[in-house]
Amino acid sequence: MNVEKIREDFPLLKRKINGKKIVYLDNAATSLKPKQVIEAVDYYYSNVGANIHRGLHKLSEEATRAYEEAHKKVAQFVGARKNETIFTKNTTEGMNLVMYSLMNSNYFKRGDKIVVSKMEHHSNIVPWQFLEKKIGVKLEYARLDENYEIDMKDFEEKVRGAKLVSVTGASNTVATFPDIREIEKKAHKEGALLCIDGAQLVPHKEVNFGAMKADFLAFSAHKMLGPTGIGALVAKEKLLKELEPFMYGGDMIHSVSWHEASWNELPYKFEAGTPNIGGAYGFGAAIDYLKKIGMRKIEKREKGLTKIALEELEAVESIKLYCPKDEGKQGAIVLFNSSRVSPHDLALALSEMENICVRSGMHCAEPIVSSLNSEGLARASFYFYNTEEEIKLLSKTIKEILGTFG
Ligand SMILES: Cc1ncc(COP(=O)(O)O)c(C=O)c1O
Repeated sequence: MNVEKIREDFPLLKRKINGKKIVYLDNAATSLKPKQVIEAVDYYYSNVGANIHRGLHKLSEEATRAYEEAHKKVAQFVGARKNETIFTKNTTEGMNLVMYSLMNSNYFKRGDKIVVSKMEHHSNIVPWQFLEKKIGVKLEYARLDENYEIDMKDFEEKVRGAKLVSVTGASNTVATFPDIREIEKKAHKEGALLCIDGAQLVPHKEVNFGAMKADFLAFSAHKMLGPTGIGALVAKEKLLKELEPFMYGGDMIHSVSWHEASWNELPYKFEAGTPNIGGAYGFGAAIDYLKKIGMRKIEKREKGLTKIALEELEAVESIKLYCPKDEGKQGAIVLFNSSRVSPHDLALALSEMENICVRSGMHCAEPIVSSLNSEGLARASFYFYNTEEEIKLLSKTIKEILGTFG
């Protein structure tokens, strides 16, 4: 992988603030965008501009073709079919779509069990809490072991009789890749539906939904080079045919009379109203870009960068790392804390001194992060365009900051 050449594609990496380049290590929050994605979005607004599925004129036809083509690209990227691939606003909307569609289809009744793990993002906790209050389902959390992995014994007990299991494919805090194969086996043995939060998985690893037993997989374009405001929920076709829609209105219908409506074909049954068409152009371009590099190469590069970051930060006095012991289970995220300086002060000082962007606080996963440190934690997260030099600058600057905090 020619990283120097790749970095040329990212306009933000050329930006300077106070005469210094940006060191972007906040990729788990959102990734940078290459010019190919920016140009694709610009092309739509500058040259096409029309709505989809509504007009017979050339511009509408062109927009419709590109929008449907983007579905095909995203579907193929994760080993799914086009009619299984619903465009959403983001992962959060994907999780809400699952929750509302299941609720609208009367899938749950009082006392039914939903199992998640203790490393989930708010978007895989709060929708289920809503069902606890609305229907009286029981939300259970599988414990983590001392290596920040899901305790599979506890999971096995909790999953007994569950109606739905919903777990992350990769943690945005402790960085663990849970053992999805094992989770699939156990969930399916119980006849439970399985939903995977793929927000931190799909941008970093090759995924083949067709070969998975999972029923739903949600992810966001903006964490994988694409624009904000668009993402996908991939789901098994049989299930999508049976489920009630999540939102109702234009474009998701086949026919409407005064008191009845029938639904559009998949995936449009689940895409109500004018969608993010420009975003779809960008999402398609992001997929093209990732495929050109290759997900295996991306994964390998990130492993190398993460290893360096772990070694560098582990060697810094007063720093504690929160990550799995098993390297194979570690994503491109390093969660850490210093006993000498608060995570917010550390993040602010890194930004002030060297334009280093890291995130601090609860990382939208307050239950787990607050259990590790009530003040929150700092997080550096990488993508394939990051460099060893950037990571070394991170550890060097942290040492300087800690020096001034005595
Ligand atoms: C693991 C995980 N799940 C879900 C989300 C929510 O993604 P979005 O804000 O794009 O909906 C995030 C975002 O950081 C995440 O890291």
